Amino acid sequence: VIDVAFTGARSQPCDLAVVIDVLRATSTVTQALAAGYRRVLCVDTLDRARSVRAPGRVLAGERGCLTPAGFDQGNSPVDAARLRGEELVLTSTNGTPAIIAAAARAPEVLLGCLLNLEAVTAAVLDRANPEIARIQLICSGTESSPALEDVYLAGLLSLALQGQRSDSALIAESVARQYATAAAALGASAHAQTLSSRDLFQDVEFCAQTSVLGCVPAVVTRQPGIAILADRATTNAGAEVTPDRAAPVSDALR
Ligand code: MLT
Repeated sequence: VIDVAFTGARSQPCDLAVVIDVLRATSTVTQALAAGYRRVLCVDTLDRARSVRAPGRVLAGERGCLTPAGFDQGNSPVDAARLRGEELVLTSTNGTPAIIAAAARAPEVLLGCLLNLEAVTAAVLDRANPEIARIQLICSGTESSPALEDVYLAGLLSLALQGQRSDSALIAESVARQYATAAAALGASAHAQTLSSRDLFQDVEFCAQTSVLGCVPAVVTRQPGIAILADRATTNAGAEVTPDRAAPVSDALR
């Protein structure tokens, strides 16, 4: 069964989870790994993020969309495209809690965003077999409400997968069909407007780029309050990390 959780808090135990926070956490993690960060540590609190600071680690995050005091950079895929260390430590309001919660409930957790839509779809299709009875597409949402851009992406993913769908998956599919382009969906999203009002429109443009990265972040290690992610290609096949090109900022939303 393909199911959609409209917020992180509504996620359920499943065999394979795909966590989605188009604006911006899963876009930031995907871009960071694509840019060459070896791992991304998603952490639950600002204090924990500060406590794992170490040489080679870059602290990234947001509260109220803005970079917390003492952090190196924001929860920004534009910032993450510049490789500044070996590992990125990321904490955000909705996205990283949803990733940490999914890591506790599912044996396999992948991250999806528009940037890696084709790659994450292929990864889920690759994993779909009789042992994977329940796939959950988890929308992080915003402050416990659904976010349009996350439901839009869950709908696109669901449309590309085979199998029985829950009602929530069918609802997400019909949302995806409402928008001709990713830019149109993001243009209608409240969180995109919030980011724009805080001078972060560049991040919205960046996150609207579709299928420009081949990287699929996968949870590789779980610790209390922390989920550690690496590129699925390197964790599965032991292949070398091949950084994708840093996605250019598109003018799709102008
Ligand atoms: C979140 O995790 O709440 C979001 O990624 C917020 C943001 O930074 O846009």
